[in-house]
Amino acid sequence: MTSPTEISARYDLTNGIFNDIAARYERTNTLVSIGLNRLWQRRLIRQVQKVPHLRILDLACGTGTLTRKLARLAGAQVTGLDPSDSMLKEARRRNPEYRTSADKSSTPDRPDIVYQKGYAESLPFADKSFQVITVSYGIRNFADRDAAFRQALRVLEPAGNLFILEFTLKAKPGAGMPIQRFYIHRVLPLLGWLSTGKKDAYDYLRNTIAWFPPPQMICRELEEAGFVQVSYTRLSPGVVVLFTGQKNGDDK
Ligand SMILES: C[S@@+](CC[C@H](N)C(=O)[O-])C[C@H]1O[C@@H](n2cnc3c(N)ncnc32)[C@H](O)[C@@H]1O
Repeated sequence: MTSPTEISARYDLTNGIFNDIAARYERTNTLVSIGLNRLWQRRLIRQVQKVPHLRILDLACGTGTLTRKLARLAGAQVTGLDPSDSMLKEARRRNPEYRTSADKSSTPDRPDIVYQKGYAESLPFADKSFQVITVSYGIRNFADRDAAFRQALRVLEPAGNLFILEFTLKAKPGAGMPIQRFYIHRVLPLLGWLSTGKKDAYDYLRNTIAWFPPPQMICRELEEAGFVQVSYTRLSPGVVVLFTGQKNGDDK
């Protein structure tokens, strides 16, 4: 179990990093993923479209890259939650309502998206509030994954679905592995540093990917937290995995 002191230190670290890079985050993300992020998020959205998705929580929404795409799904009402003030500010700045508003001191939410500050480990929502929860490149940063997974289960309605995108390297030597490692250890931190001028942030990114557990372990953690139908798919060219899990339909 993660102690309250460790959790608070982790919150300080990640908030510092994401507040620092917020203004250039989206541009850098496209650059370091060589544009593939769009394809990976499209794969996730295709899965979301297959299940009931009128109430969606986009956890660790950051600047809202995925949140905005989810809000385009017919009838979907999306809540984007993130602890970083600067990432949320950037997310709101990208709302058309903000761009056309004369009063730039306020950043109104759009009707189909609500951005809210909060942590995955203590979600500020009632039980069974959402049909779908998405997390893209968020779980690597969580201070306590087990607490976050249990909270996600709590706020999902019965038979609700969880979709997670995350970077994970192949554990076993094989085709593509040296290229993956070269990309994560050398190319990604260098591009991130050049694009934002923040070396620490992209060293952090490299380290959290390099130390991240293999997908089988994340699946086990999701099952231990209570998710069923847990599975994962490695997305081409192999550095990103899409996890899926469901809340038991009998959980009334
Ligand atoms: C790499 S960004 C991903 C942003 C967005 N989902 C995307 O796809 O671009 C990771 C986000 O996780 C957020 N984060 C870090 N710790 C968190 C926590 N404990 N609970 C929720 N979000 C957290 C950060 O503030 C940051 O915005």
